[in-house]
Amino acid sequence: MKVIETYDGTLERTLFSEAEIQSAIERLASEIAADHRGKPLLLLGVLKGALYVTVDLARAISRVPDGPSEITVEYVCVSSYGNATRSSGEVRMLKDAHQPITGQNVVIVEDIIDNGFTLDYLRTLFGGRNPASLKSCVIFDKPFHRLVDVPVEYVGLSSPDEFVIGYGLDYQELYRNLPYLAQLRSWVFTQ
Ligand code: PRP
Repeated sequence: MKVIETYDGTLERTLFSEAEIQSAIERLASEIAADHRGKPLLLLGVLKGALYVTVDLARAISRVPDGPSEITVEYVCVSSYGNATRSSGEVRMLKDAHQPITGQNVVIVEDIIDNGFTLDYLRTLFGGRNPASLKSCVIFDKPFHRLVDVPVEYVGLSSPDEFVIGYGLDYQELYRNLPYLAQLRSWVFTQ
């Protein structure tokens, strides 16, 4: 697939290609489908970063034979980084879920876990609403700066300890649309 590149000179290297990411999505979909066989599943995507992974995962799960009895998709929107390059630890809910969480089999879908504050906040919040089950899925795990020990049942790919962008991840709202994960050149965010 030809991607229109407008970021020439700002990307250091590709870390995971579109094919590698989609392969990880298929694996995660199989795991989630197997764990929710015959049950309704609520995928709770966390905007903005999990915009793409939530869509791709929902479609991939629905292709798995003998998966969930039904799949619903909901988005919440939180912010922890703003335009900073590191999480402040303060997570703010910008848009809550419309659907009731009580009695639902919920999988929170995130693009990346870094410090862990965001997922910890969401698990505590939604865990308090009496779901039938509550699990977490991240496509990229960056374990180097974890400050909260939060369970992640479904992990896609390991991110290096670099500033990564693409497949939902941004730098000042740019790069989210790239279908691959790449490392941003340091001069872009240090200047
Ligand atoms: C990013 C990412 C996760 C969170 C992970 O969100 O999408 O939600 O940070 O970081 P943590 O594990 O250190 O808490 P961000 O606040 O940048 O918002 P965005 O999803 O709109 O880009």
